[in-house]
Amino acid sequence: MSKKFYITTPIYYVNDVPHIGHAYTTIAADVAARYKRLGGHDVFFLTGTDEHGQKVQQAAIEAGKSPQDHVDSLYIRFKELWQKLNISHTDFIRTTEPRHKKVVQEILQDLHDRGEIYKDSYEGWYCMPDERFWTEKDLVDGNCPECGRKVEKIKEYNYFFKMGQHQDWLIEQIQSNEKFILPASRRNEVLGFLQKPLEDLCISRPKERLSWGIPLPFDDDYVTYVWFDALINYISVHGSLADVRASGYWPTSHHLIGKDILTTHAVYWSTMLKAMDLAVPDNIFAHGWWTVNGQKMSKSLRNVVEPNLLIEQFGVDVIRYFLLREVPFGLDGDFSHKALIGRINSDLANNLGNLVNRTLNMLGKYFKGIVPQPDAAGDEDALLKKKCSEVVGEVDKLFDELAFSKILMKIWELLDTSNQYINNTAPWNLAKSEEGKKRLATVMYNSAEAVRVIGILISPFMPETGDKIMAQLGIDTPVNQQGLDSLKQWGWIKAETQTHQGAQIFPRIDDPAAAKLLASIETGSEPEKTEPPEQITIEDVMKLDLRTAKILEAEKVKKSKKLIKLKVDLGNEQRQVLAGIAETYEPEQLIGRTVILVANLKPAKLMGLESQGMILAGSSGKKIVLAGFDEALDLGARVK
Ligand code: MSP
Repeated sequence: MSKKFYITTPIYYVNDVPHIGHAYTTIAADVAARYKRLGGHDVFFLTGTDEHGQKVQQAAIEAGKSPQDHVDSLYIRFKELWQKLNISHTDFIRTTEPRHKKVVQEILQDLHDRGEIYKDSYEGWYCMPDERFWTEKDLVDGNCPECGRKVEKIKEYNYFFKMGQHQDWLIEQIQSNEKFILPASRRNEVLGFLQKPLEDLCISRPKERLSWGIPLPFDDDYVTYVWFDALINYISVHGSLADVRASGYWPTSHHLIGKDILTTHAVYWSTMLKAMDLAVPDNIFAHGWWTVNGQKMSKSLRNVVEPNLLIEQFGVDVIRYFLLREVPFGLDGDFSHKALIGRINSDLANNLGNLVNRTLNMLGKYFKGIVPQPDAAGDEDALLKKKCSEVVGEVDKLFDELAFSKILMKIWELLDTSNQYINNTAPWNLAKSEEGKKRLATVMYNSAEAVRVIGILISPFMPETGDKIMAQLGIDTPVNQQGLDSLKQWGWIKAETQTHQGAQIFPRIDDPAAAKLLASIETGSEPEKTEPPEQITIEDVMKLDLRTAKILEAEKVKKSKKLIKLKVDLGNEQRQVLAGIAETYEPEQLIGRTVILVANLKPAKLMGLESQGMILAGSSGKKIVLAGFDEALDLGARVK
């Protein structure tokens, strides 16, 4: 029976707009899952969305929806992005699904019955947005140490999980198993954290304060703390505790997480598992964080790198490759479009693309595209084969450590050796003489086989490219069926295979094109579209009720960098409108100006405030200019 391999990503907060940080963990898990499948493992790869808690409840209220409708409309953004990124997950779990809720309640009941959960009064400082209690000494300047926002002193009864009693056991687990928490720096961080006494974990929230959660099965006045609920997703996807044990997928091979959620996994989750009498995961791997051009990614800085746009601009495989090649897994990294284009040109176009292209080109030129029968091997051939088997072995070891960038560097060593092999054997010279032709057949056979090996090795990282390479080589057997076993013996590709040279798999982005692309990204302007925008009719235009309006009052919206709250006068009525112009205009500059209002726009809530219309403005890059008039007009006049 094939060996089971279970890998997970965190389940993402459904409220968040998916960005490259989320894509990073998911791509990493996908690469590991695909590689293990190539090796014949029975892989279960889980991802999903975290859908309960205060932030979701709050956002649903602001959107004027029920929390369930709200999350139903949001989780799909993650699902769709994973599809575009060719993520090959086995299941996608949502914490609002009945199958999950049922298991959370079963576990809670079981722990309660066995005295692992107790009720007690608790007084502490509570950070509403983070849904966490802090002690007095945790606070920084009297505020939440995590997000810097205000905390409230709360005293209430709650339920607690007896986490503290497992402290010594947990330290022993971590110390006796080097691979349990990786990288080593994170392992030390957790051991450092465990030097302080480990407190019990508050796992309930009173319903009167937060209703959007899974009710405690033994006390209907409470819902489950969102982390206690979320972590159980790793189990609930398989069913009850008994089902998990029977599934063969326990313990988890790797929980991939970001460094920010290390404590919840290494400490909360491990002790929860101990209480449930389940083994801890083989490995929890905490990767680093991505910044963008040196800055933290944030909505207010408008620098969130949107993976959908990147895929459109550069293609899926390029993004998958870049994220895992650029930064060693475990360290922080910086994203820039310039670095991305650099990698496309050097690693992908010049190196990989060139090897595939020249090999297929020479096969076409010297052998009508048919892979020739090789002849006796010489020293050069032996070197190539040796390098190949060395790389295949090293890659396998490095996959156990999830050292993705090192793996890619290893594969690129094989690429270099293969390119070098062609340079040294100089097929173009061999082709000149009849006696050179025998040698030429061997060289071209070996080059084709090297390209195949490279195609298989890169396919977990770049699945589409792997398939393209196989198609050009004329190999019908899918990558997965060739598998890692096919790499162990040189000579899998059959002589007589008819190859089909296709387009360059990674065309270079030349300097003018790169400069243009970077400029459009820099200024935030739309990249040039090849398709003209859709045409609309005059009736469509007339649907817009545009009116002149005068700004009477203007003030910045607290906690928002962009929004200004305006009161505008349309002659016969006044309205409140929110405009995202605070980065360009000061409120004082706006009072008295006549602007154009979209008067029949459905009201919407932004940051909890109603906006009854929209002000027209033009933008280029980050610059925003309000549309207006040369001369005064009556207020409320129609604009067409
Ligand atoms: N819902 C919890 C996880 C529960 S798992 C039982 C959560 N969700 S999250 O959406 O906020 O974050 C999910 C993952 O995205 C985390 O691993 C986090 O580290 C990762 N990232 C979020 N921003 C990131 C970067 N800028 N860079 C890299 N990863 C980042 O936490």
